[in-house]
Amino acid sequence: MENCKTLISQLEETQILSKEEFAFLIASHSEEDAQYLFERARVVRERYFGKSVYLRGLIEISNYCANDCYYCGIRRSNETADRYRLTEEDILACCEEGYQLGFRTFVMQGGEDAHFTDEVLVRLIGNIKSRFPDCAITLSLGERAKERYQKLFDAGADRYLLRHETANAQHYAQLHPAWMSHTRRIQCLWDLKDIGYQVGTGFMVGTPFQTPELLAEDMLFIKELQPQMVGIGPFVPHHATPFANEAGGTVEQTLFMLGLLRLMMPQLLLPSTTALGTIDKTGREKGLMAGANVVMPNLSPVSVRKKYDLYDNKICTGDESAQCVNCLGVRIASTGYRIEESRGDAPGWNNRL
Ligand code: SAM
Ligand code: FES
Repeated sequence: MENCKTLISQLEETQILSKEEFAFLIASHSEEDAQYLFERARVVRERYFGKSVYLRGLIEISNYCANDCYYCGIRRSNETADRYRLTEEDILACCEEGYQLGFRTFVMQGGEDAHFTDEVLVRLIGNIKSRFPDCAITLSLGERAKERYQKLFDAGADRYLLRHETANAQHYAQLHPAWMSHTRRIQCLWDLKDIGYQVGTGFMVGTPFQTPELLAEDMLFIKELQPQMVGIGPFVPHHATPFANEAGGTVEQTLFMLGLLRLMMPQLLLPSTTALGTIDKTGREKGLMAGANVVMPNLSPVSVRKKYDLYDNKICTGDESAQCVNCLGVRIASTGYRIEESRGDAPGWNNRL
């Protein structure tokens, strides 16, 4: 096998490596190789995005969830979770506040909550679009049948985030109960693409049983899917889940995967995640320096933030939205990048405005 620097240059040039090459790089790189990767990732990201960082306002609409992922703090078997769901009025108030703060994308995320029927969401999407016609709507509400995704798209939703979690079915079965289906999750992603959403997928770094080979499979799956966005962050254990005592993912591993993604797909929207900021005080800044170009500050009402408790020690749960934006602005400025106030669509995307 060639050395790591050569493989990194090859990835930049050809935008693909074999599974064995990705696995070797992930398993064998040195700190110096990682610094070289980040340098190249910044050059590539600046070629397409300059110094801009896109903002997405995250509104955590519900922590009720029908699913039971072993890693997730709001899984249905966690009886200690303090459940809530936002009303349409609450959500519109979050959008209003976000709009004043400069947000032009609203991401509505939540557990798989049966309350949010197609009818409820279609009305909500219509109301947001009519009040904020220059904003993009992103949904992140889990798995649905294709015709249901279609209804939400027809109502005006622009983008959908659904992490594949792991590209390997056997690994998926180690992270989820048997009744949750890997095939179905992957099919959802192809359906979303087919409908015409801008699609985001992704995975956690450092989940139990993950190996460099499995991460290499994630890279190849993403290359095949060709999503517009990829959200990755470290796995962070939650005390009331079956993985409470497992080790979490590391900053180093996560940054390295961000750098690889940037070189493999130069035009990708790549968030520097809250989970990364949770395991390292300057994790989000480091993410931007490794190739990320999106941040997703929290716009949820402060009264519910602690309850959207996916993992332990989640940051910014006590801050008002304005404080979060100011804090992030300062953090981003420290990296030499700057917030761009726009919808931040994927490059070349022909949006429906
Ligand atoms: N229900 C939707 C879905 O399944 O896509 C969206 C909400 S779900 C909580 C959002 C993401 O949080 C998941 O895709 C997962 O990758 C991430 N997540 C859940 N538990 C986590 C943990 N313990 N550490 C880090 N990320 C976690
Ligand atoms: Fe961190 Fe708010 S989520 S700035």
